[in-house]
Order: sequence, then C-alpha cells, then structure tokens
Amino acid sequence: MVKVMLVGNGAREHAIAEALVNGGAELRAFMNKKNPGIANLAKGNFRIDNLENFEHASSFGKDCDFAVVGPEAPLVVGIANAFESAGIPCVGPAIDAAQLEGSKIFTRNLLKKYNNPMNIEFSTFTSMNEIPAYIDKLGIENVVVKPDGLTGGKGVKVFGEHLHSKEDIFTYCKEIFTQGGHVILEEKLDGEEFTLQTFVDGKTILPTPLVQDHKRAFENDEGPNTGGMGSYSMENHLMPFIEKKDVDFALANMKKAIDALKQETGTAYKGFLYGQFMKTRKGIKLVEFNARFGDPEAINVLPIMTTNFVDICRGIVDGTLNKMKAEFKKVATVVKYLVPAGYPDKPAANAPIKVDEKGIAGIGARYYFASVNQKDDGAIVTSSSRTIGILGIAETIDKAEIISEKGTAFITGNLYHRKDIGTKKLLQKRIDHMKKLK
Ligand code: AMP
Ligand code: GLY
Repeated sequence: MVKVMLVGNGAREHAIAEALVNGGAELRAFMNKKNPGIANLAKGNFRIDNLENFEHASSFGKDCDFAVVGPEAPLVVGIANAFESAGIPCVGPAIDAAQLEGSKIFTRNLLKKYNNPMNIEFSTFTSMNEIPAYIDKLGIENVVVKPDGLTGGKGVKVFGEHLHSKEDIFTYCKEIFTQGGHVILEEKLDGEEFTLQTFVDGKTILPTPLVQDHKRAFENDEGPNTGGMGSYSMENHLMPFIEKKDVDFALANMKKAIDALKQETGTAYKGFLYGQFMKTRKGIKLVEFNARFGDPEAINVLPIMTTNFVDICRGIVDGTLNKMKAEFKKVATVVKYLVPAGYPDKPAANAPIKVDEKGIAGIGARYYFASVNQKDDGAIVTSSSRTIGILGIAETIDKAEIISEKGTAFITGNLYHRKDIGTKKLLQKRIDHMKKLK
C-alpha cells in the first residue's frame, strides 16, 4: 500500500486526505490542530505539531512514499526541500519555486522579463519616494496596493473599495514599510475572476475544472475580504462568462511561467499551481499565483475527479504527467462555508459545533472540516478562521446549490454562511457584469 504523509489540517487538506484514501493510500497526517475528518481518514495515525517544524515532519513521514503539502506557509519556507533532503519526495514546490506565491514582486518581475501577456502594469517600492509619481502615472482610481509576501488573502487594498484618497494609499504604504515590507503598486483590473487549479510536474501542466470563489464575507459581495466564503463549478468545467479559449490562454501562459521559473532559478515547479485570473476588456490577466490548491476551491474539484489522485501525485513527483490525463465528472458543485460569528474581524473562537452526519449524508451533501479543533473528550470547537465547508454535487448548479444550502442546516453552532453562493441571482449578476464590460 502507498504510504502518504499529508501536511495541513484545513478543509482543503480534508478534501486532499479523502482523495488520497479513495485512491488507495494509507494516510499519515501532520496537523497543527486536530481536524477530526482527517484524523479519521488517517485511522488515528496523526501528529499535532508546528507545521514548520521540518525535523519533526520529516521524521514522522520518513518511511512514506511521498508527502503532500496543503498550505502555502510551510512551502514558502522550504518544507519541500527538507522532505527531499530526508528522502521523501514532495508534492509541493521547493522554496525557489514557491516564490510564485511567496513574492508578488518576484512573480510580476518574472512575467515581465519573459513578456508574459497575462501580466499587468506594476511597479515595486522600498520607500515612499517614487510612490506619488507612480500613482499619478496609473491614475489614482486605477491603483491597487499590495505588500510583498504572504498575507492570507487580506493584504490587498483596492482603490475605491478599501482606499478612497491619496492619503489612504500613503498611509497604507507607510504601514507596510514600517513593518519592514516592500510595496507593489499595480493597475486595478475590472472584470470577473476565476480560479484555474493545475497539477504540475516541472514540465507538464494538467488543468482541473474552473472554479469561482467568493471573497466577501456577506451576501451580495458586501463586507470585508475573507479567505473565501464558498465557491462553485459548472458541469461543463467552465464559467458562464469564461470560454474554452480563455482557459487555453490561461493554461498556456501558466506553462510559460513555469518554464521561465525553471530558466531563472534552475528549479522545476512540482505540485499544485493555482492561478487566479480576471477576464477584463484587455483579455485574461493574472491576479496572483498560489503554490497550492485553493481553499475552498479544492473541495469543488477533488471530489469529482475520476482519475486516481494518488496516481496524479506520483506523476507529479516522478515527472510523468505527460503520460496522464486528469479527468472529472461532468457535474456542478457548490461549496458553502460556515464560519464563526464575527468572522473575519472578531471570530467567536472555541465555540462548540455539532455535525449531524446522518442528516448530511441523507440529503447527499458532504462536509469538510476547516479551522476546528477536536478536544480529548471528542467535542469539536471553532477556531479563529472558517469552520466547515458543505459541498453539494449535482448535474446542474441549481441542484448542487440546494443540496449545499440544505446541508448547512445540519450543523449547529454560533456560525453564519452566505446563502447566495451558487444561486441563479448571483450568477446572473456575474454574467451581466461581464456583458457590461464588453
Ligand atoms: P490576492 O491576495 O492577490 O488574491 O488578492 C485578493 C483579491 O484582491 C483578489 O481576489 C482580487 O479580488 C483583488 N485584487 C488583487 N489584485 C487586483 C488587481 N490588480 N485589480 C483588482 N483587484 C485585485
Ligand atoms: N480561496 C482562495 C485561496 O485559496 O487562495
């Protein structure tokens, strides 16, 4: 039996764990809190530790055939390198390659140097000096400010949404410099976003169905940005406003970026590569790369994959994806996240939740534990981030939405969710937005 070490304990990792076990793997889980779903799939073979303690992780996984790393944080500080040194092949990029997520400045510069057409206008700064002139060049209403480095999806500030004056932009840039960071200013894109998640073995890149996430906390896309409140995918694996040629363009240019990365750093990208794109008047543009699967977007694609996920992971580490195809059922999916009251600003942590497993199974929904902790007495409590994702799968998005929405009723706790994700009304809003742009 193939032994696989999984690092991470969110809902993304719960979905990865399920796909590994369904693919025939014996699972060993390295987590920082006890996710009861993953602990069960690992048949109790888990360890609670700091995910960035590479020594512990390597010794816990030492006789595994390979490791799969879920979250970005350990990747950008080199967990894949540590595993490789310990003789454990890793699904997840080495430190140089993980810069595609770890440094927005690195990535924009790489795309620029190689004339990648999905790149946008940007400039990088280490002090305030040149910032006013660049704001004038872009036009103030066209400015997006980002700190370099990982921010858990919460560091980006967009003019007109989070920033409303030159003063606001200066204040935020100064705040970033005070914390020792570097600033990247880039052109503000207008359009509809989509996520393209891929498997990469260094040379070959295989796509999975497109997904759209919902970043805003409240219904109708209002409220603060979050890690993602839920997501959907369509039965044709596209989006209602994205065509096959758009996907082909995005995929071809992701491949160019991986080739450029190899050329620049000598390091081959091996793992999952997540492209966040926006379809704009000027074409398909890259918003960002992530060096991992999305959360919740992993939950839209892994459960409907018909190709054995363990074989795909082997293909990634062995560099043999060119001989494989990743195939998926022609079905739609909707994920809704239940999150603690007060999330994301003041999440009610340590609050008990209950899952009516039979009720959920009875309506054909599935659940994926995210930021929770299971106590010794079996009680499950919330933590400070998203709590549990409910997945509906059906032949149409309408039906998938109903299943996922109904599923949320089988979870009790001080939680809330967005009822509008996957609904006709919200989908229509996206389609209308795209039409208006054209
Ligand atoms: P990121 O952390 O780069 O994914 O950014 C988080 C969110 O900020 C994205 O999903 C977009 O909605 C928004 N965003 C990031 N960059 C831009 C941009 N250049 N123009 C408009 N919106 C952006
Ligand atoms: N849901 C957005 C992300 O995983 O980055």
